[in-house]
Amino acid sequence: MAKLWAGRTAGETDRLADDFNSSIRFDCKLYRQDVTGSMAHAAMLGAKGILTQEEAKTLIDGLAGILSDLESGKLAFDWSCEDIHMFVEQELTNRLGSLGKKLHTARSRNDQVALDLRMYLREESDALDAEIRDLLDALLAQAEQHRATILPGYTHLQRAQPITFGHHLLAYAMMLLRDLDRLRDGRKRINCSPIGCCALAGTTYDTDRRMEAEALGFDDICRNSIDGVSDRDFCVELLSDCALLMMHLSRFAEELILWSSWEFQFVELSDAYTTGSSIMPQKKNPDMAELIRGKTGRVYGDLLALLTTLKGLPLAYNKDLQEDKESVFDALETVHQCLRVLTPMVRTMRVRADKMLQAAQTGFLNATDLADYLVRKGLPFRSAYKLSGELVAECLRRGCVLETLPLEVYRTYSPLFGEDLYDEIRLENCVEKRISEGGTSARSVDGQIAYVREQLRKGSERK
Ligand code: ARG
Repeated sequence: MAKLWAGRTAGETDRLADDFNSSIRFDCKLYRQDVTGSMAHAAMLGAKGILTQEEAKTLIDGLAGILSDLESGKLAFDWSCEDIHMFVEQELTNRLGSLGKKLHTARSRNDQVALDLRMYLREESDALDAEIRDLLDALLAQAEQHRATILPGYTHLQRAQPITFGHHLLAYAMMLLRDLDRLRDGRKRINCSPIGCCALAGTTYDTDRRMEAEALGFDDICRNSIDGVSDRDFCVELLSDCALLMMHLSRFAEELILWSSWEFQFVELSDAYTTGSSIMPQKKNPDMAELIRGKTGRVYGDLLALLTTLKGLPLAYNKDLQEDKESVFDALETVHQCLRVLTPMVRTMRVRADKMLQAAQTGFLNATDLADYLVRKGLPFRSAYKLSGELVAECLRRGCVLETLPLEVYRTYSPLFGEDLYDEIRLENCVEKRISEGGTSARSVDGQIAYVREQLRKGSERK
């Protein structure tokens, strides 16, 4: 096929070099944005008298036809085109003859590709936003149900203090709220129109960049044409938001994996989100959760790949920038997949409150509360801490727990101990007493749930 740039060069490019250069295999994803952007461009050219209104209308109708034919499957991509932009222009010219060749007046593929990508990522960011809110919904439903369900809280993966399951789940809700906040903030910087920056220097035609930007739903235009065609910060930001989000999902997935192990048995994942083993008949494997954990690495990789591509690029457009799309597409596809699987997994998991409580009953989770009891009786905290430690050691020697250690023994350690100590160290009490804001008591969990709901409500008002 004759090259777009035939004129400057006469020779054929090598077939392998053509394949190497071409991006249509992956940027075909941008067809809708490309056609819609071109429609707005034709409208602007018509409104400004750069093309006649008649010509603009014919171009717009032609583009609309291409879009609906692509969508209905009547029109297939021509993989021999270099990229999606060339494909649409070629198809338009096939349909409209030489008028099709007028569409590319006062623009370049450099501002066109940046425009398409920003329009695409703006939608993707909104889709992610909705998926994160779904996951938050699932977390809140479980947290509500388990506002008072007791389990061991861990530090160093050693049993530390009793907490409520609602409290633990809400820790993830807070991470996801921050993820939402970051996405929404980044969206402002995505939603800036580069179209009209042209190749890099702007144009001699009397264009109206703002008209085009407004027609396409942008909040602003890129203020410097060189920056407009070479800026990919918005891609890096979105990828970094994805990487952080995946880190959160991965930590949660890791806990689901631990909790569904025979050793913990805190949750049972639905059959819909587990697999069996090909050899061991008893196995129920948390494959999907493991994949969420595993795929986190590839999203980090996408972020690093793009940052590395951008490093040291001279201004303005360089073909290296074509590499942005595969990283971004791969990361987004991965994050969508993970969220779509994790949300129903959380919704359907069976929480084993009995096993959680059983685990909380061993491991001396109430030792801090025993020390606090002595503090309330007048002992300085450090001394109370030491005494409680000695009592734990005593229990270990006797093979009992703090709840079953007889009062006489307690009293050999300190006369401050009275019958009321047993009430103080009851697990339910240890949890209920932790009413400090953000703490683990059921009441505090209710407050945190209300906070998350309020943030979600405010956020959706802003949108
Ligand atoms: N396929 C190219 C990309 O994705 C489009 C821009 C091409 N511009 C150019 N000057 N070769 O970046």
